[in-house]
Amino acid sequence: MTKKFHLGWFMNFIPPEWDSDYTSPDVASWANGDFYVDMARSMERACFDFMMIEDTVMVADAYGGTMEGSLKNSVFAPKHDPLPLAIKVAANTSKIGVVATLSTSFYPPYLLARACSTADSIAGGRFGWNIVSSAEDRAAQNFGLDRLYEHDERYNMADEYFELVNQLWDSWEPDAVVMDRETHTYADFRKVHTIDFAGKYFKSRGPLNTIPSPQHKPTILQAGASPRGRAFAAKAADAIVAVGTGIQGMKEYRDDIRRRAAEMGRDPDDIKLMFCVSPTVAATEQEAKAEVERIANNDLYIRKRLVEISSNTEIDFSVFPLDEPLPAGLTTNGERGSLEWFMRGDGSGKQTLRQLALHMAKQGIEMVGTPAQVAEQMAQAMEEIGGDGFLIFKPGWDLNRKYITDICDGLVPELQRRGLVRSEYTKPTLRQTLREF
Ligand SMILES: Cc1cc2nc3c(=O)[nH]c(=O)nc-3n(C[C@H](O)[C@H](O)[C@H](O)COP(=O)(O)O)c2cc1C
Repeated sequence: MTKKFHLGWFMNFIPPEWDSDYTSPDVASWANGDFYVDMARSMERACFDFMMIEDTVMVADAYGGTMEGSLKNSVFAPKHDPLPLAIKVAANTSKIGVVATLSTSFYPPYLLARACSTADSIAGGRFGWNIVSSAEDRAAQNFGLDRLYEHDERYNMADEYFELVNQLWDSWEPDAVVMDRETHTYADFRKVHTIDFAGKYFKSRGPLNTIPSPQHKPTILQAGASPRGRAFAAKAADAIVAVGTGIQGMKEYRDDIRRRAAEMGRDPDDIKLMFCVSPTVAATEQEAKAEVERIANNDLYIRKRLVEISSNTEIDFSVFPLDEPLPAGLTTNGERGSLEWFMRGDGSGKQTLRQLALHMAKQGIEMVGTPAQVAEQMAQAMEEIGGDGFLIFKPGWDLNRKYITDICDGLVPELQRRGLVRSEYTKPTLRQTLREF
């Protein structure tokens, strides 16, 4: 029998495409979240495991040393808070998981543990937390710091942070709420404990003041790709959102994570590697290829992609000639894995900056064609990688309802007909949904 794979969608809470032929009539009111609720309903109809909302907390000015690149193009800014959107999506759906990105560098651990617990209760066990430690000095400066902590130090802090929030979620025993009418007891105080956590970076007395949520702890997603990031993910994550280079690169990434998980005493099958892809699907192969061609010849598109990578790495990519290779030795204290992935491109070491930007647009594997052709490409890739699923990604400024329909009402039904993805939800919580196969 064919092994099924999982589907998620990684999206940004920013204005969707607003200046193209496929601009929706309600695009000006994107900030009320309705566009993304519609999207989640389409995804739920297609039985996606989850919608994952990206986040950063700043208006970037790395590209060209000004905020123009971000704000004029609505690339990563404006960006609204993922948590209220996650709640709205959860309240307007009943099966699909919803994941919000929250940073360990800026959220006080107690507030985060409490917010996640509350969100998971409202979502009926369908809430996930994408753990990030943030990657930008500009973000740090919004929280009273001059610079972000050093890369590996952020992970050391995240390790301790994760330990602390877990203790907070465990500060209520599962059966602490008794609601005994005879003794007029709501919660048994003997089953709610202080944690008295005192670490190197954080201190918290506890207990949490929320009751245990349906999942007890949110489903954990993580995206760090550097060796330090992978070590953290292998320990903490239920799912890893990853960018890979080619099928071989993805297979190696997955094998590495599974090896690390096993070394830590975890069942490798409890961690799902989800690789970002940006399929281009159309009624005919010709139309799909024409769409890819349209992007390749669009300088504005290339610039927006460079604003994105500048924003994540705080490297000004506007200073490098578009039609020459990048200089060697660029480095960042920000998203190290993402920078290396971007600069690696197709692995030839010969690509120009323009070609790298276009390669970035393909994500890890180019997938172009009719629903049947792309379904075949996905099936083959999964077969070779070994699992566990794909994360659809299209930058928010390039996302419209037509694309959502292409995926949810074109590609996914074809995948379902082939028995490659789920065609019904059978489990109540996101973690169980991820572990179903
Ligand atoms: C697919 C993907 C999605 C990510 N999403 C976010 C995000 O929403 N917010 C954020 O601050 N960082 C995000 N990151 C960055 C990672 O969480 C991580 O901080 C970054 O990759 C640096 O870690 P590394 O050097 O181990 O790769 C993402 C990275 C990847 C590859």
